[in-house]
Amino acid sequence: MPKPVVRKISSRYIAGTDVADACRVVKQLNSAGKMATIDVLGEEIASPEEARAIAATYKDVFATIDREQLDSNISIKLTALGLKLGHELCRENLEAVVRDAAKRSNFVRIDMEDSSTTDETLRLYRELRGAGLDNVGVVLQGYLRRTQSDIYDLAKLKPNVRLCKGIYVEPPELAYPEFEQVRVNFVRSLEALLDAGAYVGIATHDQWLIEQGLRLVLERGLESDQYEFQMLLGVREELGDALVRDGHRLRIYVPFGGQWYAYSLRRLQENPKIAGYIAADTLHRLLPGRNGSRSS
Ligand code: FDA
Repeated sequence: MPKPVVRKISSRYIAGTDVADACRVVKQLNSAGKMATIDVLGEEIASPEEARAIAATYKDVFATIDREQLDSNISIKLTALGLKLGHELCRENLEAVVRDAAKRSNFVRIDMEDSSTTDETLRLYRELRGAGLDNVGVVLQGYLRRTQSDIYDLAKLKPNVRLCKGIYVEPPELAYPEFEQVRVNFVRSLEALLDAGAYVGIATHDQWLIEQGLRLVLERGLESDQYEFQMLLGVREELGDALVRDGHRLRIYVPFGGQWYAYSLRRLQENPKIAGYIAADTLHRLLPGRNGSRSS
């Protein structure tokens, strides 16, 4: 796909190429009552030097968050820190970022990537928690069949978990292939996490799932600082605005970086659903009079 086309369709989902772009976007979000989590795009790294450079960029991000007094933590993909190049390299980079965050009283969310990385990602998460670092959380994916048992295994740690559906294309042996199965497993996982006393970031734009999330936190009498909703930059903003108006905490995922092209293209290639959303959204913008509801 031509670069300018990819750039255009992805521009509302990506803050820009520099930390200053992310800072500008996070300030706007904060002034609208939304928290943020900043992601440095960098899944395509090929050398230890590049992985260390991404880790160093995260230190710049934390310095910017402090200097500009942003309400934001960070999200990190372990492949960007060298997961595919070696456990030790990745652990070193991750630990340096998490320790930097701890000094600043901030928090690191480890994103979850495709299923070839799940075991290693959870292993690194456990290692850091075992080293006494509690300012780190992980992501579990509702579409994976293993998620219930991962929750069971993690429960003792009272983990801080972002629960999402999962974006990668996975084989049916590993992931529920049907939309409704994923929803059901998402709700079951959310219940199990809340029962385990986990702090959960309920990451979805699916209105039905948001309603289930609201029901479950209400049933448990949770205060508004005991959970949060999370959404991606530029997606279903009206739903997010409604949550904030109703007094719920909402965190927006804000990616930035020079590798926007590879990231956007990969997203489009990996999950044609996104291309569908973009097409539907563009049509909706072109034909604002039509009722182009994109709810699932
Ligand atoms: P669903 O796909 O059914 O979308 C519901 C509706 O939202 C759609 O009908 C559409 O209207 C709209 N929508 C959703 N995505 C859109 C998009 N990109 N553009 C335009 N409209 C869109 N995944 C993962 O595997 N690992 C991870 O670490 C993360 N991290 C993460 C963080 C945060 C904050 C969020 C919100 C999501 C993730 N994800 C993720 C992605 C997640 O797994 C999932 O693929 C997307 O959120 C889409 O699923 P929904 O639950 O929104 O439902």
